[in-house]
Amino acid sequence: MENGISTSRLSFETVVLPCNPSSIHFPSSSSASLPTITDPSTRSSLQIASEHLRSSHLVVFPTETVYGLAANALSSRATADIFRTKGRPQDNPLIVHISSLEMLKLVVDEGFVIPETYQRLMDAFWPGPLTLLFPVKKRERKGDSDDKGAVVVGGDGGVPEEVTAGHSTVAVRMPSHPVARALIAFSGLPLAAPSANTSGRPSPTKAEHVYHDLKGKVRYILDGGACDVGVESTVVDGLGEKKDAQSESGTESVVRVLRPGGVTVEQMQRVLGEGVRVLVHRRDYRDEQLESQPTTPGMKYRHYSPTCPVYLVTSRQPPSSSYSTEDIPVEALLKEITEELCTRSKTRSQGLRIGLLSLTGSRLTRALLATEAQQRFASSGGGPVGLDWVHSPLGMLTGSSDMGEGERDLSEPARRLFDGLIGLERQGVDAIVVEGVPEEREGLAFMNRVRKAAGKSYSVALPK
Ligand code: TXA
Ligand code: MG
Repeated sequence: MENGISTSRLSFETVVLPCNPSSIHFPSSSSASLPTITDPSTRSSLQIASEHLRSSHLVVFPTETVYGLAANALSSRATADIFRTKGRPQDNPLIVHISSLEMLKLVVDEGFVIPETYQRLMDAFWPGPLTLLFPVKKRERKGDSDDKGAVVVGGDGGVPEEVTAGHSTVAVRMPSHPVARALIAFSGLPLAAPSANTSGRPSPTKAEHVYHDLKGKVRYILDGGACDVGVESTVVDGLGEKKDAQSESGTESVVRVLRPGGVTVEQMQRVLGEGVRVLVHRRDYRDEQLESQPTTPGMKYRHYSPTCPVYLVTSRQPPSSSYSTEDIPVEALLKEITEELCTRSKTRSQGLRIGLLSLTGSRLTRALLATEAQQRFASSGGGPVGLDWVHSPLGMLTGSSDMGEGERDLSEPARRLFDGLIGLERQGVDAIVVEGVPEEREGLAFMNRVRKAAGKSYSVALPK
């Protein structure tokens, strides 16, 4: 005990096991066969991690979206450990990760007939960053009789309540990251895994992010390099009413996006065609019952936040859009932020260091960086306060500035978002300003995460 807090759970020596994703080869995109692994140290890392999972312990693994904290999804004891390790509220359900369609049978209700919408989405996006809700196959037996070191592999399956938080649905995805799929296939277990961060913090996209956050709390971290997508999977519920009551023909089906993510709404719409409407929660519909429950990230609990304040700043650039009365000039924005930060920490003797997570070379970036060291902002306490920027670029929206926004690539800012937030926080900045991006394609997931991390949002007017 230390300061009255039990430290017994901080007793692991955390080991980072290297994995080379390009040494792992699957025979086909969704088959149940085991992959071949050409690199001996990757094979050994996966063997150690699989054994650990089969003994009901936790393993951190890379996926194409973010790193996950995995446990045997069929074991209540193992999955309960996820909640303890993350400090996650128990009423927030987990996603189950599978490596083959065979494995779906272990977790989905036997009577469920896969609807055409799901079939098309699975054909197009599995393996990949898409999570679908299914009616759950519940664990028949109560208690932990399956958990005494033995593993429910090849059995009938069934998901314990810990995973679904008592809901009638289970969220499932088939990750495309070779290390993730190989780990699931070798362990023979569907893996329940939330993002591998302390609850409420930004999701980790590199093994080192996890190491700094969960060191001492987990035994093994598989290091498969930086995550390619960088934001979590898209969570989709296509189980609701089959027909859209509001459509004129009455023949439209509806799928609902509970959380925008790595698969974009535009991609899904293309695959589903005109007969299916893809609705995004909070953008296209509200659901009071859903919002009172934590079944979608960020609705009930704080999310994605570094310990320092985060400000979302969107810029308007005439002539494409006109100023609104809510737009403020850059100087007014900085004065407001400076005053707020000085009020938070009255004993400030030095200037402020503010992280700027913004598009490379954007007009907002240039306008803000130009204020560095040249301007002093009067703090509420009287004396002037200096301001230094620590810039972390989100990359460029590739395409020329006269290209329509619809043609620019937004995957790069999404990939860099969490890495930027975590990196700036580790540099000890007093606050982070994040530049807003267009709310379409990968930009929808980006803005969804930033809005949840940000205490305040501003729209600034930039001079021509
Ligand atoms: O990309 C991802 O999805 C990552 C990687 C590790 O796969 N995982 C992830 O897990 O983001 P997590 O726990 O951080 O977010 C999953 C969210 C939960 O917060 C929960 O709200 C929602 O998915 N979810 C899980 N089961 C659900 C269910 N039965 N109904 C509605 N939402 C559910
Ligand atoms: Mg998470």
